[in-house]
Amino acid sequence: MEQIYLDQASTSFPKAPSVARAVYEYLDGYAVNVNRGGYTSAYSVEEIVYETREQLCRLFHFPESRNVIFTGNVTASLNILLKGLLKKGDHVLVSSMEHNAVMRPLTQLLEEGITFDRIPCMPDGSLCISRVESMITPRTRVLVCLHASNVCGTIMPVRELGRLCQKHGITFILDSAQTAGILPIDMEEMNIDALAFTGHKGLRGPQGIGGFLVKEELVKNMKPLLSGGTGSISHTEEIPDFLPDKFEPGTPNLPGIIGLHAALSDLENRNTPSMEDMFLHEMHLTDQFLSGLRALDPTGNVLRIIGRPDTSRRCAVVSIQTLQKDMAEAAWLLDTQYGIMTRVGLHCAPAAHRTLGTYPLGTIRFSFGPENTEDEIQMALDALKQILI
Ligand code: ALA
Repeated sequence: MEQIYLDQASTSFPKAPSVARAVYEYLDGYAVNVNRGGYTSAYSVEEIVYETREQLCRLFHFPESRNVIFTGNVTASLNILLKGLLKKGDHVLVSSMEHNAVMRPLTQLLEEGITFDRIPCMPDGSLCISRVESMITPRTRVLVCLHASNVCGTIMPVRELGRLCQKHGITFILDSAQTAGILPIDMEEMNIDALAFTGHKGLRGPQGIGGFLVKEELVKNMKPLLSGGTGSISHTEEIPDFLPDKFEPGTPNLPGIIGLHAALSDLENRNTPSMEDMFLHEMHLTDQFLSGLRALDPTGNVLRIIGRPDTSRRCAVVSIQTLQKDMAEAAWLLDTQYGIMTRVGLHCAPAAHRTLGTYPLGTIRFSFGPENTEDEIQMALDALKQILI
């Protein structure tokens, strides 16, 4: 049976063309450490790590490569940022569409006397921007928000949020889990103070590598979450105060960074599809899928499309609820009978499902990448027809 991978929002597959070979060649040929060894191969790894920071600066329009910090993923980045920045008495604004990568650290921080409020979003996931200013209090220190929903793909008004944060002196943190490598992100123009990213979704690198880019003004008042060896100022037992070492103790995920470097090189390469081309293709598939779903169930008795009804202000993530068939069973049939891989349930985002009116049952989520094809989308629609109608 042909396998059709439609779980790109969870992790992208296939990865960018150069990734696997770069990771293999490193592990097989010269898998040495960084910032520690006094020999040529260690210096060449150091160079790749440095270049990867520079590539990320170019991609996100950010000036300072030492302020690019590598972590394991967006979750680790958000934990370091939120727990490092916030202090007792601080107040945080979030959207009502957040993933648990934001909500769980904030829930932990309630115990430290840090509070949060949720900016309401519409039942299609769109943020009510007109409500933001009235929710700002003198104690509001941070606004943290995802760029696009991992449940239904709705895109948040990042520019407007950035402007409001700048106007009120609030730190703006953006979770780009679903958009880095997919949508343009300009930290300067969008007034983003800190950007959390992951390497394994839209950037098409390996799992387990991510990070954050943080403006210099924030760094002084940020406590590091972890401490340990950095290969620098080894005569002291205190974590260095300079970047990136302050937030990067321990040996980093070098195969991950090398894979990410290869993925970013592919993205910068003029001979491979540009980010814009890939996004246009994904939106074409999204349009085909949405139209196909409507044609399949014109009366709306069989399934409900969640989120925005068309391709405006959304990325290539589509959730549906089946109204007459158990969703876990439908997803299981898609996989076992048709080889179609999706994600079913709450997608680690109960708040988003509450907003969308899909809690606690959740949805079946289909998400598309640059290498999915029209034929695959048609096969998914045909399979749904067989299962549901
Ligand atoms: N957050 C990822 C998802 O939505 C893993 O599937």
